[in-house]
Amino acid sequence: MSKSSTTTGEEFNKVYSSIGHWIWTDKRIPKELKEIVETHTPKTSLELGCGIGIFSSFMASQGIIATGVDFSSKAIEKAKKRLANNIDKPVFAVGDVTNLKNINEQFDVSFDVGCFHCLDEEGQQKYISEIHRLLKSNATHLIWALDSSPSGMKLSPKYMVQTFGEHFKLDKSEFSRRRIAPSHWYWLTRKD
Ligand SMILES: C[S@@+](CC[C@H](N)C(=O)[O-])C[C@H]1O[C@@H](n2cnc3c(N)ncnc32)[C@H](O)[C@@H]1O
Repeated sequence: MSKSSTTTGEEFNKVYSSIGHWIWTDKRIPKELKEIVETHTPKTSLELGCGIGIFSSFMASQGIIATGVDFSSKAIEKAKKRLANNIDKPVFAVGDVTNLKNINEQFDVSFDVGCFHCLDEEGQQKYISEIHRLLKSNATHLIWALDSSPSGMKLSPKYMVQTFGEHFKLDKSEFSRRRIAPSHWYWLTRKD
């Protein structure tokens, strides 16, 4: 078990082995992600907790060199299988977002749709230190997270300012009802 997550890769493997779980096979690309592509025109992107890789596939389809990481080997296996015949496909890797030691390049943009809220406080700090290491200066990190996280924490714009404050500036947050639950989108910029 990852010490910094309230769930494990094995638990998520069970979810991804079940057929057609609607939450994690939702193919709609969030407009917030599309906007990042339009406004930032990134050449490279990193997705944390990419699941079966739908959003990173979208990034690759836009000509971006996309990388997706998830600690569920089953999800990564499915992501790779789905795109086996595509030319523009992301690089998918099994990895824990609290320790991405196998990734060493710096990205233009990173994003996370539903992973950050899986982490406990220690995991959140490790995650922040990893995205700080893996993003270029002034690069944007986009997060969608539930307000009441599965890890039992209350996430809010105020909480994100406090938690990310050392290395990231919260530029904007927006309340969302994505996937029904009260949640927020957060746009963070790497400070230095
Ligand atoms: C709610 S799912 C979202 C998947 C995908 N982003 C989507 O929206 O379709 C959360 C994902 O985060 C992954 N995850 C949770 N904790 C993680 C960790 N510590 N390291 C890597 N992946 C993690 C899970 O395996 C799962 O695929």
